[in-house]
Amino acid sequence: MSAARETWLVLGASSAIARAFARLAAAEGADVLLAGRDRADLDAAAADIALRSGRRASILDFDAADLAAHAAFVERARAAAGDTMLNLFLAFGFMPAQTEIDADPALLHQAIAANYAGAVGVLHAAAPIFEAQKGGRLVILGSVAGDRGRLKNYVYGSAKAGLAAYAQGLRARLYRSGASITAVKPGFVDTAMTFGLPGMFLVASPESVARACLAAARAGKDEIYVPFFWRAIMAIIRNIPERLFKRLNI
Ligand SMILES: NC(=O)c1ccc[n+]([C@@H]2O[C@H](COP(=O)([O-])OP(=O)(O)OC[C@H]3O[C@@H](n4cnc5c(N)ncnc54)[C@H](OP(=O)(O)O)[C@@H]3O)[C@@H](O)[C@H]2O)c1
Repeated sequence: MSAARETWLVLGASSAIARAFARLAAAEGADVLLAGRDRADLDAAAADIALRSGRRASILDFDAADLAAHAAFVERARAAAGDTMLNLFLAFGFMPAQTEIDADPALLHQAIAANYAGAVGVLHAAAPIFEAQKGGRLVILGSVAGDRGRLKNYVYGSAKAGLAAYAQGLRARLYRSGASITAVKPGFVDTAMTFGLPGMFLVASPESVARACLAAARAGKDEIYVPFFWRAIMAIIRNIPERLFKRLNI
């Protein structure tokens, strides 16, 4: 394995944050594997990244909800990365409004499948790759919504909370092989996921989140809030007594 060469496997590569991350990683010398459901979009993105960066950019079909396909998928990714060190950027997510979920149980299952079961499934399938290569960087996009269950977003928030706990355990496992896991908790980011939502404030750009993710992964950080001030905001929110919190309309 060539220590100098690395490939970022980007899961949910049509996400605005993932797209910005893939561009940045390629611009800084890595190959990228763009994985997702929208083949036409990924093809166009891969061509653009390869042209701008001169790095290898390929695509892989990936649906996080197809749990049975995860093992074969990670094998394809490992093979596509060839002789390079594999890194993983997990970006996919699905955030229907809580009121939509309440009206349609199918959305509840889709949200859990995308944000928790699918994420944990593909990470668990990929873990032996990092143990075998004795290194690599994983970045997992969680959310500040996982820090406290709240009235207006508790299905999505609970799935992200479960993912955060899973990431802690997997981090301890992979630490023993020299691989790092950076759990990222963004606040509000200007993407399709939040387009048109009311009550947004302190909104970050996908590019700034991507830069923070890459820097934190390189530094081997365990957990970051993006932008950084969300750590303080969430510390306050976590400390509101439950008897008061349950009355809040947030
Ligand atoms: N935007 C924010 O304010 C914010 C805040 C905190 C955390 N986050 C997290 O940041 C990550 C990136 O989100 P974003 O803001 O960049 O949103 P986005 O642009 O809406 O991207 C979400 C991506 O997830 C993909 N996806 C959903 N379900 C999938 C599945 N079953 N299999 C494969 N891909 C699936 C979508 O693919 P398709 O294009 O195929 O639908 C889409 O590309 C998510 O994990 C999100 O939860 C976002």
